Amino acid sequence: MKTVFVLNGPNLNMLGKREPGIYGGKTLADIEADCHAAAASLGLAVDFRQSNHEGDLVDWIHEAGENAAGIVLNAGAYTHTSIALQDAIRAVSPLPLAEVHLSNIHAREPFRHKSMVAPVAVGMICGFGPLGYTLALQALAARL
Ligand code: DQA
Repeated sequence: MKTVFVLNGPNLNMLGKREPGIYGGKTLADIEADCHAAAASLGLAVDFRQSNHEGDLVDWIHEAGENAAGIVLNAGAYTHTSIALQDAIRAVSPLPLAEVHLSNIHAREPFRHKSMVAPVAVGMICGFGPLGYTLALQALAARL
């Protein structure tokens, strides 16, 4: 069975408590459960992780290059700043990566409009809340 890494960046461990008006009431554990359910129906396995540290995300992208069929990435604020994440994704090319954001980053502050991940992603899903993770898994499954 093919495994997709679902990687989550800084502050996403705070979902449920963090700015619920923007990010909703679901916790990251709820989203992980949704991902496992979606993956099961798609015939995929999911390895779901979160870190507040950029280097962990870099290491996990490299690991995905060895052990995964694709990546779903919500890099949180590192989305907007991290050349290291873009380079890591380039380093595991052509491993397909789907970028996800709970909120519509284009409808928010200008500093969120730029994504360092987008140029190296297959595509981006943003603004649909936790459903975005399920949609991203479906999109990857269609390519695998
Ligand atoms: C986010 C959007 C980012 O701008 C923000 O820094 C986050 C969450 C989202 O899922 O909407 O931490 O990636």
